Amino acid sequence: TITPLILSGGSGTRLWPLSRELYPKQLLPLVSPQETMLQSTVNRLAGLPDLAGRAVVICNESHRFLVAEQLRGTAMERADILLEPAGRNTAPAVCAGALHAQDTDPETLLLVMPADHAIADPAAFRDAVHAGAQAARDGALVTFGIRPAYAETGYGYIRADLQGQSGQGPVAVAEFVEKPDLTTAERYVRSGDYLWNSGLFLFRADRFLQELERFEPDMLAACREAVAGASQDLDFVRLAHDAFARCRSDSIDYAVMERTRDAMVVPMDPGWSDLGSWAALQAATDADGDGNVTQGDVYAHDSHNSYIRSEHRLVATVGVENAVIVETADAVLVADRDRVQDVKAIVDRLRRDG
Ligand code: GDD
Ligand code: MG
Repeated sequence: TITPLILSGGSGTRLWPLSRELYPKQLLPLVSPQETMLQSTVNRLAGLPDLAGRAVVICNESHRFLVAEQLRGTAMERADILLEPAGRNTAPAVCAGALHAQDTDPETLLLVMPADHAIADPAAFRDAVHAGAQAARDGALVTFGIRPAYAETGYGYIRADLQGQSGQGPVAVAEFVEKPDLTTAERYVRSGDYLWNSGLFLFRADRFLQELERFEPDMLAACREAVAGASQDLDFVRLAHDAFARCRSDSIDYAVMERTRDAMVVPMDPGWSDLGSWAALQAATDADGDGNVTQGDVYAHDSHNSYIRSEHRLVATVGVENAVIVETADAVLVADRDRVQDVKAIVDRLRRDG
């Protein structure tokens, strides 16, 4: 079977002022007004061959009720919800999830899914997962690669011999580079030999844990203790606080994927987007004839190529170009679309100043 392991721990700071610590982007209806990002993540699994009856979701303990409530009525209603006392990035989260899943079903494959991505064509995504399953059963750590559209420095890059590849099968990964600098990313994109790492992974729990044992034995030991000492109430599995807090914070990409020699990549093109910024969200949503994406009560007059979102009040613009405007009850963002990466700086400053 394939057990989804859904990562729902990020705080989405670049989507401020909509995304907040208590209500991060994965728990918001960002793309579709009908579903939150977490719900879309879960629902795109429906119809995947060999899908297990239960998912594992890992999130911060402060989000437990929101997560439980949002899973109700979705394609993965039954889920163990692992609670982190504090985030330690994705390597410990996946490790805890793998240890937990292994206890329930030692043979299952884990499909690691970030809860905050948009995928326009879920069927193409399911086909890619299906195409990677045999390699994962055989012991590979399978990644899913996207043809790069530009030199994004916020992604991982995967080098693989794509020329000789026919059809949808997985290809051996020659090199995995997490978040290269801009010059390097530009070189990678020009070469045509690299794919973006989509952040989705498929592997046997025991294979992932073996690799972690080699590269990060202390992390594995701390997570083992956190899972062994976990307390369960209803669907919530509370990881042992002190053990998990002792874990070094690191991502699965640096801790394992850059170092393993057993990675394979399935190239896919399901209209994938990491909704990392307002510009990415705009790109992932259908625009009107003026190139605007508007949500809520918005009146855009002679305005173009802008993302304009209102949660509470009427937002009207005149002659605005290339802007991002997001209105919420207690904060309004007005930004140049080419500067939206810097929204993070506002959040950092607000945190500092309290
Ligand atoms: N439970 C939990 N705990 N989840 C977490 C934590 C944590 O401490 N930290 C992050 N996550 C979740 C996020 O919510 C997101 O869904 C996913 O794990 C990935 O974390 P990000 O912080 O968004 O990673 P990234 O975008 O910088 O980089 C990763 O994704 C890129 C594609 O979107 C890497 O895998 C890159 O290689 C990849 O290109
Ligand atoms: Mg991300």
